[in-house]
Amino acid sequence: MAHTVDSKEHGPVDLVSALARARSPEDPGSDTPRGSMVRAWPGPPCPIPEAAPGELDLRALLRFSLAASDGSGRLRPAPSAGALHPVDAELVVGPGCPLPPGRYGYDPLGHRVHRFGRQPDGTVPGMTVELFVTPQRTVSHYGHRAWPLILLDTGHVAAALWLAGPALGLREPVLRLDGPADGPVAAVHFALPEGTRPLEGTRPTEAPHLPEETGQAAPAPTPHELLTRRSAPPPLRGTPPRDVLRALLATAVQASAGEVAWCAAVGEPQPGLVELAPDGILRPLAAGEARPTLAVWAARQSWIAEAGAVLIAHGCPSDADAPRVRRAHLRAGFAVHLAHMDAVRHGLAARPVGSWQQADLGAALGAPPGRDWIVHGLALGTTHPDEEKTS
Ligand SMILES: Cc1cc2nc3c(=O)[nH]c(=O)nc-3n(C[C@H](O)[C@H](O)[C@H](O)COP(=O)(O)O)c2cc1C
Repeated sequence: MAHTVDSKEHGPVDLVSALARARSPEDPGSDTPRGSMVRAWPGPPCPIPEAAPGELDLRALLRFSLAASDGSGRLRPAPSAGALHPVDAELVVGPGCPLPPGRYGYDPLGHRVHRFGRQPDGTVPGMTVELFVTPQRTVSHYGHRAWPLILLDTGHVAAALWLAGPALGLREPVLRLDGPADGPVAAVHFALPEGTRPLEGTRPTEAPHLPEETGQAAPAPTPHELLTRRSAPPPLRGTPPRDVLRALLATAVQASAGEVAWCAAVGEPQPGLVELAPDGILRPLAAGEARPTLAVWAARQSWIAEAGAVLIAHGCPSDADAPRVRRAHLRAGFAVHLAHMDAVRHGLAARPVGSWQQADLGAALGAPPGRDWIVHGLALGTTHPDEEKTS
């Protein structure tokens, strides 16, 4: 089972062959029904009560990370390939929260929870959000190309959760991007606010059963920034300043914990690929215009050829086993989300780009084939479409 990810409704999936097929030139064919946008949780919906002083504010945490936000047609604060949102959240609630301990399903449309089980033995204070997926939503449009996108989406959602904690002044959440194949695809644990003591009659605080992984140390975004993040509609033109590009690459490198490498394709005045040197400066990786090739590799999305820059996560060789495929894609999604938020802070327009076919970057740069594939991307520009319309 180590080479699979369990998708709850559809059973185990062989990620290695799913990725090989997704990278092939095979066409995904026509759309199929996507099913419900929210899992049909058992039990009646219940509102999330307001947090008392010292309790974890679940209502705000989930509002800033997972709730459907507004009437604009956007379902959740995190981006999603095709806006299909395959990620479902289960909450394992421990002591110190405004809900009684237990296992809950979260409904992002109603911003409500459904209690469907008791908390597992050893549940620690605070809340763990466990991320599962309903592949059918993404498969409905992307067909056999869906699985890498589903993992990238899950990485983005994990990042949206991970950022919501510090935005509320909480200590850094604990991120888990590995685990058994029949468990959650990813999980984020929120401890109680600093200074909160375990409630009377509960067991003492134990270290959560989550191996700690570091995220990154950029300043926490504000709740407003989390709720207003959008994928800027193309075109995204204008080369970002080099110091901003350097900062975004540094964020992405740090957030991906070595699971993928990073470079950026830039246009005029010096078209080429740049990467971050160990001393933190930008150095050339290859000379020449890369963006038109990227546009072809990204399902022929022609606007990418004119993007001001494209951050590129790469690695995940053809012989990567399933745990590595999973980690690389989750980490790439996580890191692109953090870089996206950073880009907005720097006044840039940004849009994730996740569907890559035959994108063998290593081979294109003269290395042996199959060693260094593009995993994810973030297109960047200095102009916003609204400005273009009025200029
Ligand atoms: C993993 C992933 C891959 C994506 N790939 C593309 C892409 O290839 N092209 C594109 O135009 N947008 C892409 N997007 C952006 C989505 O289309 C966008 O997130 C969605 O329409 C929801 O809009 P919002 O991000 O403004 O909320 C991607 C987003 C994610 C998370």
